[in-house]
Amino acid sequence: MASFLLKNLHIISPADSLDLTGDIRIADGKFAAVGGQLAPQPEDTVLDLAGKTAFPGLIDMHVHLRDPGFTHKEDILTGCEAAAAGGVTAVACMPNTNPVTDSPEVLRYILEKAANAKAKVYPVAAITNGMKGEALTDMAALKKAGAVAVSDDGKPVPSARLMMEGMKQAEQNGLLTISHCEDLDLIHGGIMHKGSVSEELGVPGMDRASEDSITAREIALADSAHTRIHIAHVSTAGAIDFIRSAKKRGVKVTCETAPHYFLLTHELLRKQDADYRMNPPLREKSDVAAIREAVIDGTIDCIVTDHAPHAKEEKADFRKAPNGVVGLETSFAASYTGLVKSGLISLSRLIELMSVNPARILGVPGGHIRIGDAADLAIADLETSWTVEPDKLHSKSKNTVFKGMQFSGKIICTLKDGDIVYHCEN
Ligand code: DOR
Ligand code: ZN
Repeated sequence: MASFLLKNLHIISPADSLDLTGDIRIADGKFAAVGGQLAPQPEDTVLDLAGKTAFPGLIDMHVHLRDPGFTHKEDILTGCEAAAAGGVTAVACMPNTNPVTDSPEVLRYILEKAANAKAKVYPVAAITNGMKGEALTDMAALKKAGAVAVSDDGKPVPSARLMMEGMKQAEQNGLLTISHCEDLDLIHGGIMHKGSVSEELGVPGMDRASEDSITAREIALADSAHTRIHIAHVSTAGAIDFIRSAKKRGVKVTCETAPHYFLLTHELLRKQDADYRMNPPLREKSDVAAIREAVIDGTIDCIVTDHAPHAKEEKADFRKAPNGVVGLETSFAASYTGLVKSGLISLSRLIELMSVNPARILGVPGGHIRIGDAADLAIADLETSWTVEPDKLHSKSKNTVFKGMQFSGKIICTLKDGDIVYHCEN
């Protein structure tokens, strides 16, 4: 196994109180020495990375790898290649596959294929069989087979009674429950945020109340059942208010948002391009401001991508296309540009949101640069700015909401278990 001496890096690892310039030595897949001027061992490949910044590999806890079943959109290997190109060394993958990830057999398939992937894969299993919202999955068996969490992501569990029972069983089995908060009855065929732009275009809208109401419901259920609940992809000011006040009351609620929710608004839908459609949808300026505020004050725990690849043909018709955007290769740069470069938060806080907190909430390793830990590391050039060109993405699908945008912060190298899984060619 190759060993590396990475020289003259700016090393940032908030969970290890590290913010210094120095070297990192990696051997046997692990961090062997961190900080100071280190002397190379005879077997080391020495790389001078002066001016570059290293931080713990990012952990994206909301990704759709589409495998099994929808491998024309993405598969486990290509999804993880996209992850590596984005500095992401571990992903949690959602169960809306075909068949649905609701059995030990599907979990086995995912984990076996993931063994050769460029990122670590932590499967999220379904809460209900077939994600049909009718009967709970066998959570003890799913945990045993390697699931780290449960979710019916893509939709909520319609019955509050079933959801509460699911949350209890998940908790008993050491699984996190992740909720996709949207009341589908209220959405009633809506395809974008309900507001001035949807009215102008004459297309059915998705009322904020659809997200706010299920968020409030999940919080009430977790409060009563004394369980944890993790709210997925928060996009509204109202949902933020519910989560903030629940946290103050001691409810065990955590949440995530995605870069598009703190950078973009529904105004972009005027283009009538389905690449700007996802659920929950891009909302209004006031929501964007609320999400930013929640990132700053700690209400939001994690930044994820909700990487949701769809093929070009599927995205061709603005009104009929499925919802979802890819994100693994842009999440760091988009977040760095929108939050750190703009002065809203520190880089250290961004690493907490994108690595330390997801590891803690999922209960998986990572989020550290610590001697003896697996060497999962991202290295970025924070000075370089680049333009998002869909054709250059490693993902099989190119449906990025950031196409044509310029970002600062480029991932130049990613290591997983001490192996270089990505390095930038230019
Ligand atoms: O936009 C979305 N796409 N939101 C989801 O929750 C599901 C995802 C998908 O699977 O395409
Ligand atoms: Zn979702």
